[in-house]
Amino acid sequence: MTSTELVDKLFAAGDLEDREFLQLLEDDDPALLDYLGEAAGSQARAVFSAQIFIRGLIEISNICLRDCYYCGIRKSNRKASRYRLTKEEILGAAEYGYRAGFRTFVLQGGEDPYWTDERLCPLISEMRASFPEAAVTLSLGERSPESYRRLKAAGAERYLLRHETADPGHFARLHPPAQTLAHRLKCLDELRALGWQSGCGFMVGSPGQSARTLLQDLRYIQAFRPHMVGIGPFIPHPQTPLGRYPPGSLKDTLKLLALIRLIDPYLLLPATTALATIDPAGRQKGILAGANVVMPNLSPPGVRAKYDLYEHKKSDGAEAAEHLDKLAEELAEIAYSINFGRGDSPLYEKEKKLYV
Ligand code: 5AD
Repeated sequence: MTSTELVDKLFAAGDLEDREFLQLLEDDDPALLDYLGEAAGSQARAVFSAQIFIRGLIEISNICLRDCYYCGIRKSNRKASRYRLTKEEILGAAEYGYRAGFRTFVLQGGEDPYWTDERLCPLISEMRASFPEAAVTLSLGERSPESYRRLKAAGAERYLLRHETADPGHFARLHPPAQTLAHRLKCLDELRALGWQSGCGFMVGSPGQSARTLLQDLRYIQAFRPHMVGIGPFIPHPQTPLGRYPPGSLKDTLKLLALIRLIDPYLLLPATTALATIDPAGRQKGILAGANVVMPNLSPPGVRAKYDLYEHKKSDGAEAAEHLDKLAEELAEIAYSINFGRGDSPLYEKEKKLYV
C-alpha cells in the first residue's frame, strides 16, 4: 500500500501491521506528513471539537535524585541552580491560576526526597478543599505503590510518568543502570491499577531512537491504554552526557503526535513546551496534528528559568499562565479556543461507568 493509503487505513481502523507502521515511520515525504496531520487533526476535532484543555504547570522542585543522561536537572549537574517551592508558594500559584481560569493543576518536579507523602498529602488535600472544581495532577517520578495509593487518597487524580522508550536497550542508553524500564513500567501499571488517570510518553529524536523503537512505543501505548500521552522533541542540554546530540525535529514530533492521535482518538495529548521551544509555531502545528492540551507555566516567574530540563526552554509568551490571552489569540488564529473545563479523559469517564 502507498503511505497515503496506510494513513486512510489507520484513520479507519486505529491500527496497522508492524511493517505498515514502520513504512509510515520511515517515510519523510512532506506531503505525507501534511496528509497524516490533517487526518489526525480532524480525528481530534471529532472527539473534542476545536477546543484545547489547559493545565497550570507548577514546577515544585528541580532537586532530583535521578541522573537521566538527557535531563538538565539531573543529580550530577553541579551547575544547575536548585530550588524548592514552599507550600505557600505552591498554594499561591494555584490561587493565581484558579482566578485566571485553570481547573487543573499539575505539580511537577524532580524526585526530591523532601516531598514525602507526609508533606504532599496535606498539600493535595488543601488544594482540593480550596479549589474543589479543579483536578490535581502529579508528575513526580517513580514512587512506591503505597505512596501512589496515599497520594490518590489525598485527592490527586492524575499522574504523568513518561516511559521515555519502550525498548529496554534504548532505555539503558538514556539512563544509568540503577534506573530500569521494567521498574518504570511497573510504576505505570500500579498507577493504572490504583485508578489514576495515567499518562506515559517519550521524547522524539532521543539518541538511539529508531523506527523500531518508536514502533515499540506505539505498541506499548496500545497495550497500556493510557489516558494521556506526553511527547515532545529531545532538546540537548549542554551540561548533560547527551548534550552534544542533535535535537529531535519538528516534523518527526508532529508525525508521532498524529500517529498517536489516530491510534487513540480519545487521548489527552499535549502540544508540549519542548515543541513550542523548537518552533515558534510549534504549539499551533502540534494542535493541527492532533494535540488537544496545552500546559502553560504557572510556577512563580522567579524560578521558571531554573527548571531547565533542556536548553532555552520556553516559559514566556503563550507558554506563561499569566498570558492566557496570548494563548487564546494563538488558538483563534487556527480557529481553536480554550476549553476552561477540568478536561477529564473520555476514556476514564467510560471506564468509570463500566466499574461502578
Ligand atoms: N529534552 C526534551 N525533553 C526532556 N525531558 C527531560 N530532558 C529533556 C530534554 N533534554 C523530558 C523527559 C521527562 C520530562 C520531565 O521532560 O521526557 O520525562
